[in-house]
Amino acid sequence: MKRRVRNHYRMAFVFMVAVGAAIVDYSSGANAQAARAGAVKKDGLQAVYATAVEIAEGKRIAQASCVRCHGLDGISTVKGVPHLAGQRPAYLYLELRAYQSGARGKKVMDGAAEFLSDDALVKVAAYYASLDPAQPVAASGAKPVPAKPGPVQAGKADAAACAGCHGEGGISKTPGMPNLVALDPKYLVAAMKGYKSGQRKHDVMQSLLAAVSDADMNNLALYYALQKPARAQTPVTGDQAAGKAAAAACAGCHGKQGVSTNPDIPSLAGQDAQYLATALQAYKDGSRGDESMKGLAAALDDRVMKDMAAFYAAQPPQPPNVRRPLTTAEWAKKCDRCHGVNGNSVAPFLPALASQRVDYLEKVLRDYRARVRKSSAMAAMSDALTEADVENLAAYYARQKARAVVFVPVPGK
Ligand code: HEC
Ligand code: HEC
Ligand code: HEC
Ligand code: HEC
Repeated sequence: MKRRVRNHYRMAFVFMVAVGAAIVDYSSGANAQAARAGAVKKDGLQAVYATAVEIAEGKRIAQASCVRCHGLDGISTVKGVPHLAGQRPAYLYLELRAYQSGARGKKVMDGAAEFLSDDALVKVAAYYASLDPAQPVAASGAKPVPAKPGPVQAGKADAAACAGCHGEGGISKTPGMPNLVALDPKYLVAAMKGYKSGQRKHDVMQSLLAAVSDADMNNLALYYALQKPARAQTPVTGDQAAGKAAAAACAGCHGKQGVSTNPDIPSLAGQDAQYLATALQAYKDGSRGDESMKGLAAALDDRVMKDMAAFYAAQPPQPPNVRRPLTTAEWAKKCDRCHGVNGNSVAPFLPALASQRVDYLEKVLRDYRARVRKSSAMAAMSDALTEADVENLAAYYARQKARAVVFVPVPGK
């Protein structure tokens, strides 16, 4: 029933719609989903048929108003200016309307689209959509962008400098050295900042963290929080039963078995016993400042401190409540649900991302996140993206091969 349109008529349909006549398709094969996507009405779009003549008119409009930024071939050589070649036609038209209304900023296109009629917008959109898309970044000879390590990977790399004292994966093997595993990232970051600022006094930790940025601290904390917890591999001496009885007073904050559910309060389960006893001593003598702990520790003698330390050190540590962030590949899977396989959208009003300029992709993702560019779908998506995610996803899509769409008419009634 379908009739494939010859190449120069490739964009025979600009907008899908309404009354049962049109279907979008990929050159690579039939896709039933496309038919449904095409059938969705958006902004009251009507079915519009762009003929070769109209596409030629679109080209003249482009020559007059668009080429200095987008080029006649729709392949941009200007930073921040997107490729338009092969982009989905209804999407191009909707964005042009967004520029006209000011929704995407008044100045970005130097008013190029401002005075064009609706008819002209349709034609120029059809023209750019009919062109062969850009080659992916890697294929065009540009150096592929090296993937930026995600936060966990970055934290792992930084943690190499800590393993000598705190153990591999934050599991201490040295009496007096705290475990860093099984602690909430919020507590870990606060502890590190405390050392760095000198508020928590420890010369060694202060100098070690002097040059560590907030972002690196976040990465380190996340890395340790995601490691498999284990008790410190250090000796435990003291009377655990006596310690357990005395620790009843601490359960309200540190948890019954030393597993805290408050991210500001450290878990004590599985912590190195010597470190725990020293910390209590430090609260008591005031060398470690904390109002709630100072009062509590003041009443404890050395014996009780040791027993409590022994009790907590023997408890099984639990992982804090943090989720591993998604990898770029996992993110891309979510994005592809709307933007099509590898960013090759099959819906006429959803943009293709494949082979788009990397600088432009980064910019718009940041724009969505900052609400400079408004879209409810993209606001929700972009909020969860870190800077590394933005850069990696932009690089990922810029590397994907763009596939042009072939629009196929189905005979109507
Ligand atoms: C002065 C340079 C300039 C001119 C002239 C210009 N554009 Fe643009 N265009 C841009 C820039 C920059 C952006 C990206 C702006 C942003 O980030 O929102 C853009 C974005 C677009 C987009 C959105 C693409 C997307 O992927 O979301 C479309 C569609 C577009 N231009 C079409 C046109 C058409 C059609 C013309 C001629 C009528 C034109 N532009 C003229 C600079 C220009
Ligand atoms: C030379 C040994 C040494 C190295 C290397 C070291 N630390 Fe420490 N760290 C210590 C000691 C000792 C303490 C306990 C200090 C105290 O009593 O406050 C400590 C405490 C900490 C604490 C507080 C734990 C808690 O339960 O409150 C954190 C967090 C920490 N270190 C993070 C790091 C990180 C991250 C690195 C690597 C960048 C690192 N440390 C490297 C010796 C070291
Ligand atoms: C009111 C809540 C509260 C109670 C009750 C409490 N703690 Fe704490 N505890 C904290 C907070 C908050 C910190 C972190 C303070 C800081 O940053 O130095 C802490 C820290 C500690 C630390 C240091 C852990 C580390 O990783 O450095 C030890 C050890 C400790 N508490 C033991 C106890 C013991 C033993 C008791 C019972 C006698 C107790 N706490 C009761 C709130 C409490
Ligand atoms: C629920 C559907 C949906 C999902 C999921 C989604 N997007 Fe979008 N995306 C959209 C829509 C709709 C637009 C057009 C919004 C507009 O008009 O500004 C868009 C626009 C974009 C644009 C702008 C394209 C251009 O040419 O200007 C980029 C870049 C983008 N999305 C990237 C992503 C990435 C990366 C993800 C995954 C993290 C993602 N999107 C997930 C629906 C989605």
